[in-house]
Amino acid sequence: MSGATIPPHDESAERIERVERRWASVMVCIVALMVVLATLGGVHEAALPQHQAVTVDPRTLHLAGEFVESNLGSAVEPDGSVTVRAVGQQYSFTPSCIVVPADTPVTFRMTSADVVHGFLIAGTNVNLMLVPGYISSLAARFPRPAESHMPCHEFCGVGHEGMWAEVHVIDKAAFARLAAGSRRLSCVQ
Ligand code: CUA
Repeated sequence: MSGATIPPHDESAERIERVERRWASVMVCIVALMVVLATLGGVHEAALPQHQAVTVDPRTLHLAGEFVESNLGSAVEPDGSVTVRAVGQQYSFTPSCIVVPADTPVTFRMTSADVVHGFLIAGTNVNLMLVPGYISSLAARFPRPAESHMPCHEFCGVGHEGMWAEVHVIDKAAFARLAAGSRRLSCVQ
């Protein structure tokens, strides 16, 4: 009696196992496909220049537009965020000391007046290439007050070594007090 019932039972168990194995391999394929797509997407993204490239004429930066000297530095936007505009040129940044509030959304908008420069804030993930003709933009947020160096990290000529600036992240309230008295802020002495 039992001998008659076991074979069909075994058969169905085998069939279930087969189906499960098939589905398991389908799942592994799906996961592998997602990993491949994410990798390709990431590499593709990293290999491209910033999408939505915004251009600016490096020869007239000082004459008109958002990078005229009086418009450089940190500005408070209506929504309370801060926009920092700065220019890199052989062999300095303008302004040479950037001041931003802690715990506030900050957007950097930067460009180069001559050759390719690099912009990074030590100890943070803020890292941009400044390419003449293009505006590089990056959103950041600094958790607490700090002072960081901001070296040029792209070889740009004989003075490259000496091309660096400073970033002062200050208390939000202190920044608000400074901003009340000035349209554009920097910590250049
Ligand atoms: Cu600018 Cu190196």
